[in-house]
Amino acid sequence: MIDLDRHAAAVSRRRRCLRRWFERSGRDLPWRSTRDPWAVLVAELMLQQTQVERVRQRWPELLDAFPTPSAMAHGDAAAVVRAWSGLGYNRRAVALHRCATALVAEHGGAVPQDRAALEALPGIGPYTSRAVLAFAFEHDVAVLDTNVGRVLARWHGAALRPADAQALADRHVPRGGGWWWNQAMLDLGAVVCVRSAPRCDRCPVRGTCTWGAAGMLGADPADGSAAVSSRQSTFAGSDRQGRGRLVDALRVGPVADGTSLADAMGWPGDLERARRVAAGVVADGLAHRLGATFVLGGAAAAQGS
Ligand code: ADE
Repeated sequence: MIDLDRHAAAVSRRRRCLRRWFERSGRDLPWRSTRDPWAVLVAELMLQQTQVERVRQRWPELLDAFPTPSAMAHGDAAAVVRAWSGLGYNRRAVALHRCATALVAEHGGAVPQDRAALEALPGIGPYTSRAVLAFAFEHDVAVLDTNVGRVLARWHGAALRPADAQALADRHVPRGGGWWWNQAMLDLGAVVCVRSAPRCDRCPVRGTCTWGAAGMLGADPADGSAAVSSRQSTFAGSDRQGRGRLVDALRVGPVADGTSLADAMGWPGDLERARRVAAGVVADGLAHRLGATFVLGGAAAAQGS
């Protein structure tokens, strides 16, 4: 266990410096001017695996189409998958639709304010639940994603175990400051304490950073640290690319099994692979089979339930 009390002085200095920096240099992002829990939940789900700039463009239109959980739950998953076009990792669209359905069925169409209830919802893990609590309800909880995990590990000067990373993150949240602290940490990780070639010369808290003080010598403490994701595997030629192509084709219309399927997935000579990967798309609720064709959306929607 890391000795948190030893860091009390550094913690208060980080709070002070980061607050000043965030007031001056925080990014002006549209989801920061709302506290609507549904709007925040949608933004955070999008931000998990899609770049900020793309989410900035697409979040408003997604909310226009589905302004409330019940508006989304009213339609089928295929409508959400269609609206999700260009955002990647289409499974999130199905999860969001399931989440909206559960919010209507179990919470009267509202977003609950506690972690256990949030994490019981489809598609909502510890990151999103904490983000909703901090950014919509202004609770003093620490949001820990790959950017924040990297910052914490560098401050600490060594890779962190999961419990230590969360404890260190929690320890930093100022009372009554959960909203700004977490937004500032996300900005610091995205703009200054970036993965490769961090901009320590621009860092508002470099005086409290163990790795920075060591001149960034030695291995990056963020490598292998808790919550820090490793580099993504190559997209080109991957199963994920074929999945994306199939869902893109299904947004336009049904795709027949056989050569059309293999062509749509970009593997004209490999029907076996196409069928195997298409089975995963079906299992994830992104498509279903109708006779000899694949159709967008889960089977339940097709049965009108
Ligand atoms: N990444 C995840 N959540 C974010 C947020 N609220 N602002 C900026 N980037 C984010």
